[in-house]
Amino acid sequence: MKLRVGIEAMGVAVPRRFISIEDLAERRGVDPAKYTHGLGAREMAIAEPGEDTVALAALAAQRALAAAGNRELGMLVVGTETGVDHSKPVASFVHGLLELPRTMRVFDTQHACYGGTAGVMAAVEWIASGAAGGRAALVVCSDVARYGLHTAGEPTQGAGAVAMVIAQDPAMLELDVGISGAASSHVHDFWRPLGQREAQVDGHYSMRCYTDALATAYRGWKQRAIARELVLGDGIASEQLARICYHVPFCKMAKKAHVALRALDFAELGRTDTDDAAAASFAAQVEPSLAACSRVGNIYTGSLYLALLSALDASASSLVGKRLGLFSYGSGCTSEFFSGVVGARAAELSARAELASVLAARDRISIDEYERIMGLTAPLGQPASFRFTGVEAHRREYARD
Ligand code: HMG
Repeated sequence: MKLRVGIEAMGVAVPRRFISIEDLAERRGVDPAKYTHGLGAREMAIAEPGEDTVALAALAAQRALAAAGNRELGMLVVGTETGVDHSKPVASFVHGLLELPRTMRVFDTQHACYGGTAGVMAAVEWIASGAAGGRAALVVCSDVARYGLHTAGEPTQGAGAVAMVIAQDPAMLELDVGISGAASSHVHDFWRPLGQREAQVDGHYSMRCYTDALATAYRGWKQRAIARELVLGDGIASEQLARICYHVPFCKMAKKAHVALRALDFAELGRTDTDDAAAASFAAQVEPSLAACSRVGNIYTGSLYLALLSALDASASSLVGKRLGLFSYGSGCTSEFFSGVVGARAAELSARAELASVLAARDRISIDEYERIMGLTAPLGQPASFRFTGVEAHRREYARD
């Protein structure tokens, strides 16, 4: 019997501070319209060292578990590219901080921003295979994204975590298992050499790598989706998806991706006319997913899932029973286009993530304060649900307040 598997509940954590992207532009002597219109940003999350990948992951995970209610867990996966140790996974810190059951499989997955999706797929296929025996999985995407001061990437930093409970008969989104399309190639578009805190990036090339990967992954998904009659091949396939959530390194990238996707659909239908509906399609299918991303910035592994939560938060009740498309991209690169159908209780479960209040609880800081925080190596030591407190005898220590 085919099992229905997908996202049961979600939780989000962001740092307590953010900057206005216009303040940053002014300080850097850049026209603010470049960052607001050119990149689509509004605000950017700023993590102090106490708010590291583990602390953010633990808080998001705690919130997702509270939203899901009583669930027996058999797997915990953290997708991250900003781990805190070469050997010990972030997942094992989270497992300890949340005092999760001993009888679980616990590990990290890494491939740049795709790492979280690697975890989602491992969990989904584990449950769909029947091996989970009715147990659920906790998948957490957590990262602190840094390019460094005065770099072209500076306005596309961010930090945050999105946690998901993956379960049978899911309330929020049932994934179309086995329908996804993947695309990978060995490229140096973005990477972070060992021991380096800030990423190296070939910015414009990375955007081409993203759209090239999208084309191949989308084609793979589309072929399978048409064969299974999830979409009709004689129409514009992407228009048959109620929403499309993209990996969002900055919001304008999602717009570029959507334009590229429609061009591909047009080309495959042999259409040579201009795409007059492109702007309306972006506004309806993609824009609702960008609200939170424009206020947090790139959170690497979690960006796609923050976009998904935004889309559900905006209009889950009108999306029930409708199919969404999701595109996950990780530099280096690998990517996957997949889809899922919104569950009957999606509005109730997305409300439990309290996205608006999580974002509203933050403090806006000045650019002077941001630059000071970026230079810190020791935690600020402020109380928080979970925080990194320092290193003792080569061990990273965390506190729960
Ligand atoms: P840049 O080169 O300084 O910016 O950095 P630009 O000159 O390309 O301008 C950006 C946009 O602003 C352009 O829009 C300009 O026209 C516009 P476009 O033409 O592309 O639509 N613009 C203006 N608009 C209004 N008023 C103005 C104005 N001036 C210019 N006055 C870049 C941009 C994205 C390259 C940089 O921020 C960067 O390197 N970011 C990091 C890399 C990145 O995010 N890449 C995305 C794809 S790779 C990916 O998604 C994976 C990743 O998440 C990592 C992972 O997988 O782990 C990054």
